[in-house]
Amino acid sequence: MDAIQRVIVVPQEHIGEIHPNLHGHFAEHLGELVYSGIYVDPQSSIPNTNGLRHDVIEALRPLGIPVLRWPGGCFADTYSWRDGIGPREKRPLRVNVHWGMAEEPNAFGTHEFMAFCRAIGAEPYFAGNLGAGSPSELRDWVEYCNFAGRSTLADERRANGDNEPFGIRWWGIGNENWGCGGNMSPEEYAAAFARYRTYVHNYPGTQVEAIACGPNGNNWNWTRRFFDYMKNHHTACRLSSVQGFAAHYYCGTAGTATEYTETQWLELLSKAYAIEGIVTGHRRIMDEYDPSHKRKLILDEWGAWHPVEKGKPQGGLYQQNTIRDACVAALSLDVFHNNADKLAMANIAQLINVLQALLLVQEDHCIKTPTYHVFDLYRPHKGAQAVRFLSTAETVSDGEGASQDCRDSYIDKQPFRLQAVHGSASVRNGTLCVTVVNTHPAQPLEVDLEIFGNKLGEAEVVTLAADDIHAHNTFEQPDHVQLSHASTVAARGKTLRVVLPAGSVTRIMGKLG
Ligand code: AHR
Repeated sequence: MDAIQRVIVVPQEHIGEIHPNLHGHFAEHLGELVYSGIYVDPQSSIPNTNGLRHDVIEALRPLGIPVLRWPGGCFADTYSWRDGIGPREKRPLRVNVHWGMAEEPNAFGTHEFMAFCRAIGAEPYFAGNLGAGSPSELRDWVEYCNFAGRSTLADERRANGDNEPFGIRWWGIGNENWGCGGNMSPEEYAAAFARYRTYVHNYPGTQVEAIACGPNGNNWNWTRRFFDYMKNHHTACRLSSVQGFAAHYYCGTAGTATEYTETQWLELLSKAYAIEGIVTGHRRIMDEYDPSHKRKLILDEWGAWHPVEKGKPQGGLYQQNTIRDACVAALSLDVFHNNADKLAMANIAQLINVLQALLLVQEDHCIKTPTYHVFDLYRPHKGAQAVRFLSTAETVSDGEGASQDCRDSYIDKQPFRLQAVHGSASVRNGTLCVTVVNTHPAQPLEVDLEIFGNKLGEAEVVTLAADDIHAHNTFEQPDHVQLSHASTVAARGKTLRVVLPAGSVTRIMGKLG
């Protein structure tokens, strides 16, 4: 083991409350996510209630998923919400044009999604259709969902089984409208946003938060031109109609989901860590137009995107998920906590069987991925006060080993600066929660944790680690990668020494003394 690394936590230096929505999720009509992942034929032998799988609900409920985005993604800008209501046998069969020309039977629609959200305890976030839809379609969907009084639309909702309004607060106004959502320029989108937004009404009892489509990664130009148009060039300043602005950032891949070298391990983690630049860069631009910080920055799609698993359809985006993906998730969540004052929501892509999934589901089997275990491990951060986390750890690599591609794609061409230890810290009711990632694929690390102006007498330590950097869970070995049992570590003087296994994620929790 090399030199001991120091981590200093400053409980007095508050960053902001870690909004639970920073641990949000995303479910698109894509591949095997909705059909077979969430929903099966109600007559199926797989245990379900009205088609919603029991095993999936049981696995997700303990996580306390705060918010779930649906129905896309690119799918959202082709979706007609009316296709997914009313008697199932009468619902139209459509083609999922973005995702492999798959059949879209519409058996899972607004009411089924709401039932699923209630079952897992998540708040819904609807992505509206701006690309191929119309303002009146969106207007009607909002009234159908949110109006408590008498109207033909509200009565139709009642006839379809939901007497009470859904009270949907979060409404995305399109998705990736610079691409699959209509190939618009920022100005074209801003004008369309202003128009559609006009008809997304606040019905009594629900205050809508309209979320505008943000950029792809570090496309600062999109952000600047959108806000510039909304503030300075629209006939009336329409900035107040924007409650949220949603960027997307996929760190991509290096190698494949399960085959990679140690260098590729570092490459992917450094690209994942670049998400910090996305958050701080876009927030800085937004603050120029919105100095009072009222518009929320959201990252409603993020995660790793590997080549599709062999034997699976290309359009289904099915990928395995290893301990490396767990480190991607942990690094990203730590960045979100450390920027809790800048970011209001983040939704990993996606929930089941697609991209960086939490669950893999096949026939009547459901397994938890290493990424699932990170969300489980990080639960105590939700709603706590983020405090300063400082690491004096050395850089793992100066980039010598990383491929040119990695350096090129690194945001704003910053040097490759992944540290050996990354993490975040939060405090709630005198209890400190520190999470740390040992980014090194081969070397365990000894870490001395110091609490500035305070101390921890002892702490509970839980780790997610594996004996191989490619380790993952399969239907044959569903618990190959799982959280360790909690162990207790006592402080030596003012510091608490913890050993972090190579390529691992660790949570340290204790009462501040
Ligand atoms: O998550 C998969 C796709 O990635 C989404 O549909 C789209 O918004 C993004 O490009």
